[in-house]
Amino acid sequence: MPESGVRCRIANVTMHAHRIKNLFSAIARHYDLLNALLSLKRDGAWRRETVKASGVDLGSKVLDVCTGTGELALAYADKIGTEGFVIASDFCFEMLVIGDEKVERKNRKTGTDFLAADTLTLPFSDNIFDVVSVGFGIRNVSDLERGICEMTRVAAPGGRVVILEFTQPVNPLFRSLYYFYFTKILPFVGNLISRNEDDAYGYLPRSVMKFPNCDALKIVMEQCGLTDVQFYRKTFGIVSIHVGKKPDKILSE
Ligand SMILES: C[S@@+](CC[C@H](N)C(=O)[O-])C[C@H]1O[C@@H](n2cnc3c(N)ncnc32)[C@H](O)[C@@H]1O
Repeated sequence: MPESGVRCRIANVTMHAHRIKNLFSAIARHYDLLNALLSLKRDGAWRRETVKASGVDLGSKVLDVCTGTGELALAYADKIGTEGFVIASDFCFEMLVIGDEKVERKNRKTGTDFLAADTLTLPFSDNIFDVVSVGFGIRNVSDLERGICEMTRVAAPGGRVVILEFTQPVNPLFRSLYYFYFTKILPFVGNLISRNEDDAYGYLPRSVMKFPNCDALKIVMEQCGLTDVQFYRKTFGIVSIHVGKKPDKILSE
């Protein structure tokens, strides 16, 4: 790629990250409430199913990237006991603050630490975590493959990379009903309640429509070196949970 092309791509990635950070900092205070409301309270169940699919156990070391207000991280913390730990990372400070306040408010002894970090350049050495997870976040990362490869890098050999994400329902009848709700009602209610004038909740359906479908996401995970990639559709295929394994050791020839 010519040098100007490289510069252009870097500028696009930076601009995208900047827009995403601003978007989430603007809606941070209403994020949890609107998640529960707009998903008709299914979001908690999706996160619990993600934790279950990850195979975490007492004592597991978990990294939850793009953690936002930490809902998925806290669902992991409930399962790993005091012997394990969860690191909850995100690059949007305002979202992290809400997560941290939740832990303080509930006076939870979770072993959950919130950390400001970009998912594209995680500040960890290779091969550390038993589970590296992301909920509704990887869609927002400006370079999908690089984000998943970075998650894979910090997972321990034999560890799991887990992705909970919105996807496009397969049944055509359900899909058209759902898309009416998703593209018309949800943005209207979301922008109204969060008092957002930049159409933050219109971004949600637009980004989901552009996101790879379940099979394509599986391929990207495999390209990042994950094996045994399985996915599970939930709630008529509104969301999916993908789980991939980092190989135990690289076979040398
Ligand atoms: C839709 S929220 C998901 C929050 C949470 N995981 C959940 O389950 O509700 C997406 C989050 O991804 C974060 N994000 C997007 N790109 C990121 C990046 N490159 N590095 C770190 N965080 C990122 C945003 O700041 C935002 O908090």
